[in-house]
Amino acid sequence: MKRFFVTVCAVFTALTICAQPVMSYEEADAKADEIIKTLTLEEKLSLIQGHNRFFFPGVPEKGLPYIYTTDASMGVKNKQHMHNAGEVIVAERTTQFPAFIMLAATFNPQLAAQYGHAVGEEARMAGAGVILGPGMNIYRNAQCGRNFEYLGEDPHLAASIIYDYVTGMQSTGTLACAKHFLCNQTEFYRRRSNSIVDERAIMEIYTPAFKAAIDAGVATVMTAYNQLNGEWTGQSKYVITDLLRGTLGFKGLVMSDWNSIYDWKDVILSGQNLDMPGEDAFYIKKKPAELVAEGVVTEKDIETMIRPLISTCLRWGLYDRYNSGKQYDKSLEAKLPEHLKVSYQTAAEGTVLLKNNGILPLATTDKLLVVGKRVKEVPHGGGAARVTGYDHKTLENALIQSFGNNVTFVEKPTEAQLKAADKVLCVVGTFDSESTERPFEMEKAEENLARKAVAANPNTVVLVHSGSAVKMTAWADKSAAILYGWYPGQNGAEAIRDIIVGKVNPSGKLPMTIERNFADSPAVNSVPEGFNLAKAKGNPNEKAFHPWTYDIHYDESVLVGYRWYEKKGIQTLFPFGYGLSYTTFQIAKPKILNKGKIKTLTDDAPLKVTVELSNTGAVAGAEVVQLYVAENNPTVLRPNKELKAFEKVTLQPGEKKTVTFEVDKKMCAYWCDKNHSWTANSGDYKLLIGTSSADIAVTLPFVVK
Ligand code: BGC
Repeated sequence: MKRFFVTVCAVFTALTICAQPVMSYEEADAKADEIIKTLTLEEKLSLIQGHNRFFFPGVPEKGLPYIYTTDASMGVKNKQHMHNAGEVIVAERTTQFPAFIMLAATFNPQLAAQYGHAVGEEARMAGAGVILGPGMNIYRNAQCGRNFEYLGEDPHLAASIIYDYVTGMQSTGTLACAKHFLCNQTEFYRRRSNSIVDERAIMEIYTPAFKAAIDAGVATVMTAYNQLNGEWTGQSKYVITDLLRGTLGFKGLVMSDWNSIYDWKDVILSGQNLDMPGEDAFYIKKKPAELVAEGVVTEKDIETMIRPLISTCLRWGLYDRYNSGKQYDKSLEAKLPEHLKVSYQTAAEGTVLLKNNGILPLATTDKLLVVGKRVKEVPHGGGAARVTGYDHKTLENALIQSFGNNVTFVEKPTEAQLKAADKVLCVVGTFDSESTERPFEMEKAEENLARKAVAANPNTVVLVHSGSAVKMTAWADKSAAILYGWYPGQNGAEAIRDIIVGKVNPSGKLPMTIERNFADSPAVNSVPEGFNLAKAKGNPNEKAFHPWTYDIHYDESVLVGYRWYEKKGIQTLFPFGYGLSYTTFQIAKPKILNKGKIKTLTDDAPLKVTVELSNTGAVAGAEVVQLYVAENNPTVLRPNKELKAFEKVTLQPGEKKTVTFEVDKKMCAYWCDKNHSWTANSGDYKLLIGTSSADIAVTLPFVVK
């Protein structure tokens, strides 16, 4: 996964910016200390809280300007944030990219690098120094309203995408922010949930994406709203100093999520650097100045707290950029058309074909009836991550362009209309948003439309727009085809249309399992038993702060997603890593190249593995070769298999390619909670290579010594 910066720069052929930190951590810290010596106590205290909701604090008269930050992972929010801040020039146009979960579904880290780069450039255009993303909380619960902002259920997939996204973004000089640290898996009671998680799950499931961001050099990290094992993450020494800085090795700036800290003493002593947005909330007990005056914390503690803010801004040249008025790079507006291509490509590679009885692709001479309300808009999620975009392409317009008079649209069709149509495209979905959980079942009207369409017409293709899994069992079997189109961004409808008409061959893969019933999920306890999300319309308690917390026990430990369903033998509707194509592929000639009859993996000798992938169908397409590792006789609870490597390969009809993987000891290891370290037992293991977690074409035994 680690690649050199140079390689990433090479991805962007027409690269305008290729920024790197201008100095080392050590140099930056030393320079920060010099600056700190010039500050009064009052100035120092002013640097622990944000300014004007979206700015890092500053002392402009001493050369430390306010630095503008903006949401989020999937584009630059700028305009919506800044309507009355007065300090920032608003960018008229910023791209509304496809949802992050759709980026994960591409299984294409190189595309993630281009996506991160594009968002980074738009931040530079809009005068923002920091993007408040990427979001990388692992998908544990289909109901979580923010799953669309994250990268699915598998830590290796999330880590692979994050590494390249962060590298791509920061190569533009825009700082990324890895969020929300940690175990923020539910929006229900999000300001008072207490995630109770064991050490192995923390290390094996919930931190690898953050570790990848840190390895990629991420400049900032945001803590979360929830408690982890009884401590608010934004003021927990265990979370910030021991885990994030200690075990994971983060050296940059930590900030709180917006209004999520409760006790200044704990905050100051936890390793936290910045309270965002810095509006003293009523639940903060004593003010920092009082605590210093009373000797509860020292001025040195305050200096320790503010050093990472100053040194991070120095290291990335942000102070110079802002002081010289160069934070706005208007010339980057010229890159917007290129960004649209990245956005289109993400939607084209991230749309997942879940079922196809041969009906797709459609001929544009087909008489097509399109039903549902979502065709007239660009489906999107809500909350901080929402970017409005510009020049939106709706599915309605995209289909008219291709089908002309052969397509008709009826939002709520009668049975007779459905029956009379040659082919039906039924567009349904959910609106997912920060601050709310939504039921696994779609709203009644959407669910009923899907049921009615497939019952009336066997030639019905169902297109789902949602940020995570929905219940499909009542209509999936009867449908002719199912496409998962997530939230596809401002021009993603054109990509989905191109898949529907066969101009683009789908290659997306599910970054999470779609279960049959929510009761099958490991996360059924995310809302209190008996609580009816559909009736309550999300989270009734988000607005009010109550000092008590709701415990969420992550009893499944490391068995998240497919790890859970496989271990429990629960049949799912669609497995992790699954997605169809208009062509067919074959995996053959598996080989471990290491010498000897028994293939042995040691510290010094990783395994070299090759398999051949062929396109055995009639059209060009891309397939994701997935490599899973399993220990045969583990001494601790281990999943049946774990994704450890993958490669997306594009092949012409009849073409073959040999894919090579290297498997090292870390890929066989679990986190030992006795030694607090990664451990790979000696013994028998196997590699499972296939095209989804459930479609394993090849199994290769090996031994770890
Ligand atoms: C969200 C963060 C976001 C922040 C600023 C919070 O409510 O949880 O993800 O970055 O607001 O908008």
